[in-house]
Amino acid sequence: MTEKRVYIETMGCQMNVLDSGLVLGQLCALGYRPTDDYRTADLVVLNTCSVRQHAEDKVYSRLGELGQVKRQRPSMILGVIGCMAERDHAGIRERARHVDFLCGPGSLNEVPELLEEVVEARDQGRREVIVALEHDHSRRLPAGRRTLAHDSIEELDLSRFPPDGGSALQSYLRVQRGCDKFCSFCVVPFTRGPERSRPPGHIVEEARRLVGMGAKEITLLGQTVNSYSYEEHGRQVAFAELLQRVHEVPGIERLRFVTSYPGDFTDDILYAMRDLPRVCEYLHLPAQSGSNGVLQRMKRQYTAEGYVELIERARSIVPRLALAGDFIVGFSGETDEEHAETLALIEKIRYKGLFIFKYSERPGTVAERRLPDNVPEEVKQRRHGDVTRLQHAISLAHHRAMIGGEVEVLVEGYSKAAIKAQQAEQCRGEEVSWRRSDQLVGRTRGDDIVVFAGDASLIGGLTTVRITAATALTLHGEAVVPIVPQS
Ligand code: SAH
Ligand code: F3S
Repeated sequence: MTEKRVYIETMGCQMNVLDSGLVLGQLCALGYRPTDDYRTADLVVLNTCSVRQHAEDKVYSRLGELGQVKRQRPSMILGVIGCMAERDHAGIRERARHVDFLCGPGSLNEVPELLEEVVEARDQGRREVIVALEHDHSRRLPAGRRTLAHDSIEELDLSRFPPDGGSALQSYLRVQRGCDKFCSFCVVPFTRGPERSRPPGHIVEEARRLVGMGAKEITLLGQTVNSYSYEEHGRQVAFAELLQRVHEVPGIERLRFVTSYPGDFTDDILYAMRDLPRVCEYLHLPAQSGSNGVLQRMKRQYTAEGYVELIERARSIVPRLALAGDFIVGFSGETDEEHAETLALIEKIRYKGLFIFKYSERPGTVAERRLPDNVPEEVKQRRHGDVTRLQHAISLAHHRAMIGGEVEVLVEGYSKAAIKAQQAEQCRGEEVSWRRSDQLVGRTRGDDIVVFAGDASLIGGLTTVRITAATALTLHGEAVVPIVPQS
């Protein structure tokens, strides 16, 4: 029997990247092997995102293309997993009848059974969509049941397989599922369900296993990661303590966490960042807006002043702190003055980098029910441009200030330009000559991308790079360790 091939396409956030890896692990245990050609795959899985309309539109257009492939090869199995499967299952059934199974993010441990059912239904000549969803999205677990110890989905994270074809060097580790904040614009509490923290013992064990698979950098993931809280032997383990416990796992060289919620951010986390040497000085702390009026309509539970105070405290406790954030422009009712307050906040904070989004109304959210999406598209577009230009100038200034200095880089591999040059040389039948001046790529502790000249033997480890040039997005430099001459 020939090997079965699976193609997984991942859209959206880091949580989805992690979920795809875990689903792939399950499928490999069933005998599937990954492929990057969906045209010849036996199984195609789209891991989807619902956070903005644009992401969902993209899924429908991919489903259209895959429908054509499936007409030619009806044996192909097509699955849609992730947030959109949960939120828009009825729409997908209606608009993409060729989908074989749907699986929400809270049910991904059921993918092997779903596949079995698809095959069984086919064998019996039934044409149906097999579905696993959490259904009652808005339910909140009563206090005391907010932990995951006996949750069957917990098995998915615990079943983690060594990556197939990929590298574990930088790995994600989930500490929390779902979100209870219900920001008025956000669909995540509906697609990923209520906030549940994983047992610290499971998280530490998983970290150990990741190190065993080659992980040097671990990023702890949660929607509001700093509100992590788990009751263990009658006492609450908070996020700062979790950080400390994971930090003790031998072999971890860098530890990060995303995403933090400004409302619950306690100073013990800042002290942990200062005192634990392998915790990176990096915070992703979305403000969403610089205007209190907008923050109130968004149901964010803090003010712009409170946010600035938090950042000032963080900077005074954690030296060289790199800050990243998210902003939404054009939220319901956002005036020019409110937009100007956002620009002023960004000027004041001077983030190292930002993710900037145009507001997209999401079905089922409080904003959709109560607040009109009334900022015209061209105004959203213009405000998006304003924030982008401002941040570009700030990022460039940050990077230029680093020229002449040295940074610690975790070396991920060859830079894209180096890979292209190698391919071109191979195509021309030339001997690959670029190894002596390899262009490598990696990241600093503050999550800056660095492209630099260095020896290929540095890949997979930490090295020191001297910065010689900079753009807003990338630092350029050379490894301080000299390149080993080739004989
Ligand atoms: N806490 C989560 C947030 C998930 S959504 C996390 O782990 O990052 C990521 C970002 O998308 C949010 O911070 C917000 O800036 C943006 N976003 C969420 N809903 C949105 C919407 N309806 N329209 C535009 N941007 C949105
Ligand atoms: Fe979304 Fe707000 Fe939670 S942005 S993920 S509801 S903190």
